Amino acid sequence: MTVILNCWQKAVLIVLLAIALILSPILCLPSATAQPTNTQPAIDDLSLFGQALPKNFFPKPETINPALIDLGRDLYYEKRLSKHEDISCNSCHPLTQYGVDHQPRSLGDRSQLGGRNAPTVYNAAPHIAQFWDGRAADVEEQAKGPILNPVEMAMPSPETVVELLKSNPAYVAAFQQAFPNEADPITYDNLGKAIGAFERGLVTPAPFDAYRAGDDAALTEQQKRGLQLFTSIGCIGCHNGTYLGGQSYQKLGLVEPWPNQIDRGRYQLTQKDTDRMVFKVPSLRNVAKTYPYFHDASATTLYEAIRLMARHQLGRELTAAQTEDLVAFLESLTGDLPLAYIQEPTSPDKVAPPKAQDWPKRSLTTLE
Ligand code: HEC
Ligand code: HEC
Repeated sequence: MTVILNCWQKAVLIVLLAIALILSPILCLPSATAQPTNTQPAIDDLSLFGQALPKNFFPKPETINPALIDLGRDLYYEKRLSKHEDISCNSCHPLTQYGVDHQPRSLGDRSQLGGRNAPTVYNAAPHIAQFWDGRAADVEEQAKGPILNPVEMAMPSPETVVELLKSNPAYVAAFQQAFPNEADPITYDNLGKAIGAFERGLVTPAPFDAYRAGDDAALTEQQKRGLQLFTSIGCIGCHNGTYLGGQSYQKLGLVEPWPNQIDRGRYQLTQKDTDRMVFKVPSLRNVAKTYPYFHDASATTLYEAIRLMARHQLGRELTAAQTEDLVAFLESLTGDLPLAYIQEPTSPDKVAPPKAQDWPKRSLTTLE
């Protein structure tokens, strides 16, 4: 049956709807506060998650230089920056896999194992510092490490890397474009700046961000319960701010000692007793995708990781239902990958083919 309303009836209907809309928050308020099952955390709690996720991590977005980012992307994927021309940043931090290799410890040059689990490069730039122990100040400084690390890309010296890049006309042109005011743009520091610039665009907005921006439907009821628990039991004490971590160093095993005491974290840098077992609190963005967990990869599932955190950091045993709610909440931090931005470039010498003799044919192995 079709209901046909005349003009006057329509007007009354619209007015009534408008009144209902205006009054709805006021009318709902008493029942919402009276309801103990309400999972929406107080707005104060949400403010502990800091400011909204930015679009990129450039301190001055107005100075973004696209040529620098493009060069950084080329270098990020460049296997020839490794001794045996077989490893790039992307080997251990594959960008289509949320920036992790899923190995307990990464395989570097000649399959050597590094000492720690590889963290993700997504949303890493805004951390207080880089690495599990914060030994590099920022992504620009960090990027200069792996290329020379003997168990990672194993290049013999910064000079060799610079020499290699200078021998490739496509890179010569790319560095000139990225650093237009410099007479000698191919330097090891500039390589770090370019890779760092690329990493400053690795941002992944997630359903949790939509929820914070006011889209109540962006989280399921279970995720909202998890969020409530996350703040009420104290995970937020360490995993706070926009990145749910990345902003402080904390003791791993604060309440109950961590089972694996081999890697003592920041103590290895500072030799201070107060730094024993102190690590950077990792960001929990995309954590559902970045297994295995912890610097020592001692948990393979998020479920296990959350139980360990509750026990060792908070002295609590969680029920299965609580743990599952927390897992669900952390899944709401899985963001969208910037697929166009991370598209693997055709290598510079494909773009502008160098003459064969321009790129050293001699493998770097002969430098041993
Ligand atoms: C052989 C594997 C491997 C390669 C190659 C590699 N990394 Fe890593 N990366 C790691 C591991 C392992 C860590 C953690 C080491 C630590 O904390 O002591 C790490 C840490 C990082 C971090 C710190 C993230 C954070 O949250 O603190 C960034 C950023 C990063 N790598 C970027 C890069 C870039 C850029 C390259 C290429 C220049 C690169 N990595 C090459 C394995 C690798
Ligand atoms: C006292 C500080 C503190 C508290 C409280 C805390 N964490 Fe952590 N969390 C850390 C630190 C530090 C690490 C890194 C440990 C390491 O070195 O592996 C970490 C690591 C994690 C990881 C692994 C991340 C990764 O990428 O490997 C997860 C998941 C996690 N925490 C979730 C939680 C949850 C859920 C809670 C609440 C039940 C919680 N944390 C409470 C400090 C804390």
